[in-house]
Amino acid sequence: MAEQTEQNKDAGLVRDGQSRPLWSAHVLSLFPEMFPGPLGHSLAGRALNDGIWQLTCHHLRDFGVGRHKSVDGPACGGGVGLVMRPDAIGPALDHVIGQAGADAVRLYPSPRGRRLDQGFIRELAACRTAVFVCGRYEGLDQRIIDHYQLVEVSLGDYVLSGGEVAALTIMDGVVRLLDGVMGKAEGHQKDSFEEGLLEHPQYTAPRHWNGYDVPEILMSGHHQKIEEWKYQMAVQDTKIRRPDLWQDYCTENQRDADDKD
Ligand code: 6GU
Repeated sequence: MAEQTEQNKDAGLVRDGQSRPLWSAHVLSLFPEMFPGPLGHSLAGRALNDGIWQLTCHHLRDFGVGRHKSVDGPACGGGVGLVMRPDAIGPALDHVIGQAGADAVRLYPSPRGRRLDQGFIRELAACRTAVFVCGRYEGLDQRIIDHYQLVEVSLGDYVLSGGEVAALTIMDGVVRLLDGVMGKAEGHQKDSFEEGLLEHPQYTAPRHWNGYDVPEILMSGHHQKIEEWKYQMAVQDTKIRRPDLWQDYCTENQRDADDKD
């Protein structure tokens, strides 16, 4: 099984477990080799090696049915594409849930799901363990979703070719919130969305570049004025780029959305 191979241990996919990780992800996929992929690098990769979070991959093919290890079949009622079989996914999920624990949150990345946002990422970071069921083809048989009470999560209104990239995206969002993953230098208190607004634009040296200047106020050393400028820029950009977010922010903060400042 994928989660027990030496190769996975070497790749940091399995911890040998002295201290408990802050967050554990279990992935069920036909392409477990896609993990940890980008999450093996940079901050998430270091945190994985340090045991702050843990990733265990399970190969869905190991639970395929019959001589051909079949995991999919034609859609009932016709239509294009294949649907993933409940008699393959069911036993696979029983196995994964057996390892992850019955209280692990069970996620199914799917364009039919609830739209992912920073609030949901925060909720997931507070759950100790998450199971990701990665679909391919036309997705899972609905009975699997119903029986295992899978939480369907969508990245947005477009279609990806499978759940793996979505699962990696969700994990990336969660892992960076865990204690000890980001240093002060990469702090996330002021991230876009953490306060319901987009983040203000950022500048660094050199002060003059290609005819563009760093805004004067940022070079003034006047801390309070700088904070005001950042807030105003966040408001202005949110109003223009994301009127939907701006409306929510105004409702949340009892502000008039049509205020001209
Ligand atoms: Cl979560 N999965 C797939 N396959 N496509 C998507 C998606 C997820 N979110 C948007 N499109």
